[in-house]
Amino acid sequence: MPLLAPSLLSADFTRLGEDIEMLNQSEADWFHLDVMDGVFVPNISFGMPVIKDIARLARKPLDTHLMIVKPERYFEVFRDLGIDSLSIHYEAVVHLNRAVNQIKELGMKAGVVLNPHTPIVMLTDIITEVDMILIMSVNPGFGGQKFIEGTYGRVRELKKLIKDTGSTALIEVDGGVNFENAPLLTAAGADVLVAGNTVFSAENPSHAIKMLKNHKV
Ligand code: DX5
Ligand code: ZN
Repeated sequence: MPLLAPSLLSADFTRLGEDIEMLNQSEADWFHLDVMDGVFVPNISFGMPVIKDIARLARKPLDTHLMIVKPERYFEVFRDLGIDSLSIHYEAVVHLNRAVNQIKELGMKAGVVLNPHTPIVMLTDIITEVDMILIMSVNPGFGGQKFIEGTYGRVRELKKLIKDTGSTALIEVDGGVNFENAPLLTAAGADVLVAGNTVFSAENPSHAIKMLKNHKV
């Protein structure tokens, strides 16, 4: 059974407290927070003041996906806000090894994110250093996009790299996850599934979370 990390990007921000409480009481494992700067991706989401309030109410680990340039400027701020894991884009960081180590030294779990076009082989020399790899299954920037089918092969390739190197990294998949592809992603080797639209557009979001985890449609 995969871990499930609902993305608050698809929540109703006029009643964020209620959506957070729903997640607290659901079978969701983590909260997925999408931070976008309008530069690395063509959209702006939310920042520190909102995350501070989310952290106050959320009773599960905060899995934070940074879609921003020069993310290292804010590692300490995120630690102070109570973030548990920080994932940074391979495409947004020049000194990836240094950045990953900075995150870990601050006491957070470190993840590296790959855009859909970035080859898995780029992870070869960082894979034993990271706690998690996040595979984007859409082009980052927006919720509710269509899942890219090539993701299954990428997850399988990453699983092999992890096995071959003795890495303990978890594989997280983010973007367009739904009831149909969730079981296939788990079979391919995904450990954590992010879901925004599938959870929050459902009539019963906590039931959708249960179904995504249990793989019953
Ligand atoms: C996209 C974000 C995703 C997104 C997922 O840039 O990283 O986390 O919110 O939403 P869905 O599941 O709707 O694709
Ligand atoms: Zn995300």
